[in-house]
Amino acid sequence: MRKPIVMGNWKLNGTKQSVADLIKAFVEPANQAFGKAEVAICAPAIFIGSVEQYAQGSKLQWGSEDCDIHDSGAYTGENSPAMLKEFGCTYAIVGHSERRGYHHESNEEVAAKFKAAQNQGLIPVLCIGESEAEFEAQKTMDVVKAELKAVIDLCGIAAFKQAVIAYEPIWAIGTGKTATPEIAQSVHSQIREYLKSFDAEVAAGVRILYGGSCNAKTAPELFSQQDIDGGLIGGASLKAPDFTAIINAAVANA
Ligand code: PGA
Repeated sequence: MRKPIVMGNWKLNGTKQSVADLIKAFVEPANQAFGKAEVAICAPAIFIGSVEQYAQGSKLQWGSEDCDIHDSGAYTGENSPAMLKEFGCTYAIVGHSERRGYHHESNEEVAAKFKAAQNQGLIPVLCIGESEAEFEAQKTMDVVKAELKAVIDLCGIAAFKQAVIAYEPIWAIGTGKTATPEIAQSVHSQIREYLKSFDAEVAAGVRILYGGSCNAKTAPELFSQQDIDGGLIGGASLKAPDFTAIINAAVANA
C-alpha cells in the first residue's frame, strides 16, 4: 500500500511570524495523520531552520523547494543537499515548473539535482508536467516521459524506490484551474504504466502526487483516485484551515 503524502510548497512566501504560526498549526494534524498519511512542508531555504525548530519532535516533516547539484564550493546563492540534510530536511523538491521556466532548468539539470539530493539521503520530489499548449496539443505524455527518462538515464529506475513524483500540469498551477480527477487519474496511471515498462515493482510502489490548484474542495475527489497518492499544495498550504482539510482528505482516503 502506498501511504499518501500531503506536501506544502510555500514558494516565495512567508515571514518569521507566519512560519511560526503555520508550523504550530500543522503539527497536530500531522501527528493525527501519522500512520495513515505523511505531511510535509517545503519552505524557502531561509526559513528551514525555523521550520525545524517548530516541527522537531512531531510527525510533521519538512524539505526544501530546490537544491544545488554540488555539496559545497564556489556557487554563490545556492543551497546544497548536505546543508539541507543538516537542517533535518526529509525531502527536496526538484524540477518545479517555476524553476524549469524562470531559471531555465533542463531535464538533465533536474536529473542531476535529483541525484545530488539522493546522494545526501534526501528524498527528491520530482515535479513533471506539461504547459497549456502542450496539453491542448495532446503532448502531455511526451513531455512527462522525457522528464522522467532524463532521471532514469542518469540514476536508473531503482532510484524511484526512494523518490516521489509530483504531476503538476503547468496550466493548473496557481490558476484556480484544477485538473479534473479524471484527467489527473488518467495521466497518473499512464505515468505508472511508463515506469512499469522499466520495473513493475518500482512502478507499483512509487508515490505520485497531484499538484495544481489542489484545495480543500477538490482534494477529496482527487485523492480518491486509484493512482493519486496525495498532493503537492501551493497556495492552500499557506492557510491553516485549508491545509488541515486537505490533510484530512488524505487520511479519509488512506
Ligand atoms: P498551487 O501550486 O497549489 O498554488 O497551484 C502548486 C505547486 O506549484 O506546487
